[in-house]
Amino acid sequence: MAPLDNVAPLVKVEGLTKSFGDNQILNGIDLEVAAGEVVSIIGPSGSGKTTILRCLNLLERPDGGRIEIDGQMLCEDGANGRINFAGKSEIRKIREEVGMVFQRFNLFPHMTALENVVEAPMAVKGADKAVAKARALELLDSVGLSHRADHYPLQMSGGQQQRVAIARALAMDPAVMLFDEVTSAVDPELAGEILLVMKQLAEQGMTMIVVTHEMGFAADVSDRVLFIDHGLVIEQGKASQVLGSPQQDRTKAFLKAVLERTPMAEENADSPPVETEESWGTGAGVDESEQIASLESEVARLRQELDAATTTDEPTTDEPTESGE
Ligand SMILES: Nc1ncnc2c1ncn2[C@@H]1O[C@H](COP(=O)(O)OP(=O)(O)O)[C@@H](O)[C@H]1O
Ligand SMILES: [Mg+2]
Repeated sequence: MAPLDNVAPLVKVEGLTKSFGDNQILNGIDLEVAAGEVVSIIGPSGSGKTTILRCLNLLERPDGGRIEIDGQMLCEDGANGRINFAGKSEIRKIREEVGMVFQRFNLFPHMTALENVVEAPMAVKGADKAVAKARALELLDSVGLSHRADHYPLQMSGGQQQRVAIARALAMDPAVMLFDEVTSAVDPELAGEILLVMKQLAEQGMTMIVVTHEMGFAADVSDRVLFIDHGLVIEQGKASQVLGSPQQDRTKAFLKAVLERTPMAEENADSPPVETEESWGTGAGVDESEQIASLESEVARLRQELDAATTTDEPTTDEPTESGE
């Protein structure tokens, strides 16, 4: 999964800027993600994380900079301070390469899990119905939900809905998957089942950009972590480095604030792993309780390390505010 030096990055972002009205939200973001790499983006609420992801598939229109996905230019600075975009059909093609899972489940409520997953391949790619259905069932199985294929979103837990949302994004065979705090709107005890699916996806070599507050996941699964604040990359590096021994004061203060309110570390570190009613699909040799427990203990370990690293020399004046969204 390590990035190869001689391979062009799958996602390349240079100098990305974006304002909403008078508010400059992205101040020149640079980001490169190699094929097969898993990059976590962490940072305070309002720092621009969602906006970065939304710019990557033009759900937001960047003001400046350059975005390239799988060698195809999506937008770039042109003459006279204007930004140029790829043509409509190129944009449509590039978007198919970019799967996205949102904070709030956005399944179609009037469709079953299966119908949600077959929708896009049939509507957008004109896939054959029988083929799309077989593939959708495979994907639902891979997220542990083959037995929920005929359920409607309202009949499923938040964790199950997010796993359907992941299967739905995968149905388009994207080159890269974007995850925007996909566990933050579900009950904490259901986060593990979503994270496990993401971890399996990472292990299968999927290229992933993951905006997350789950530091245990970031530590365990990411090849690289970016800390952003006020629309700028403040610090980046290996997960162990950025999370374990951050260099910048803002990173330290942010991590301290996040880990202090991590419920998993406080409540569950010594408890048995959460039981779910799921019988997982084919995931050969995967023991989900074990993996969830290891994510939890990783959170606890990081918390201790950070406490040790930050209690000595940190002024609290610069502490980021973490208001709920
Ligand atoms: N469509 C929008 N219109 C106006 N302001 C927006 C819009 N989207 C986001 N913002 C603002 O941009 C800032 C960054 O938002 P966002 O990218 O969602 O941050 P994060 O995901 O890091 O919490 C916030 O102050 C937010 O209020
Ligand atoms: Mg966000």
